[in-house]
Amino acid sequence: MISPSLLSADFANLGKEVSAITDSGADMIHFDVMDGHFVPNITFGPMILAAIRKYTHLPFEAHLMISHPEKYWKHFSDAGADIIGFHIEVDIDHNRLIKKIHDAGKKACIVINPPTEVKLLEKFLSCVDIILVMTVNPGFGGQKFISSNLKKIEWLDCQRKKNDFKFLIEVDGGINYQTAPLVKKAGADILVAGSFIFGSNDYKKTIENLKCCR
Ligand code: DX5
Ligand code: ZN
Repeated sequence: MISPSLLSADFANLGKEVSAITDSGADMIHFDVMDGHFVPNITFGPMILAAIRKYTHLPFEAHLMISHPEKYWKHFSDAGADIIGFHIEVDIDHNRLIKKIHDAGKKACIVINPPTEVKLLEKFLSCVDIILVMTVNPGFGGQKFISSNLKKIEWLDCQRKKNDFKFLIEVDGGINYQTAPLVKKAGADILVAGSFIFGSNDYKKTIENLKCCR
């Protein structure tokens, strides 16, 4: 599955961009929320999500790169996010937040940054819906893929097969025709791509090619 990241979309035409990627074969929409504290950049909040929600029937995932997801996740959920992603690196009760997200009828996703040890995720593998492996340091689009993260994807896929866990593996950062085959081979199910899709002049062709490249 392909999840285009709106971080590289034309912000002056966000509704049109959401319609365009929906018509181009995207499987979900990736909405990068940054607070200028957890990451050194600021993007958009729940009001923007609510305003563009009506431009697609696709699932919306809110990738919360914020220090206090426990305070803000509900705003994004109410605005129309179907999947709520928050980082393992934030100092909160992760299990409690997963439960709250599930009680609200939404899917929970835990995100891991490149420097963080993958085994810290072990205790969440049975209860989370998606694990998102960052393959760049979060904060900006258009960065170079950090290939040492492939091992994390392989480890997650191996745990999933061994224990019959149901979570999906998602990858975010530096995805293009060179890196997509690598993450798929390692076990990824969902590929987030921002600059590669929105920087192309044919969204449909780029999404199709990202889906089938091996
Ligand atoms: C980075 C964001 C990504 C970003 C990916 O902090 O989480 O979703 O948009 O951008 P590309 O695909 O350009 O690396
Ligand atoms: Zn993201």
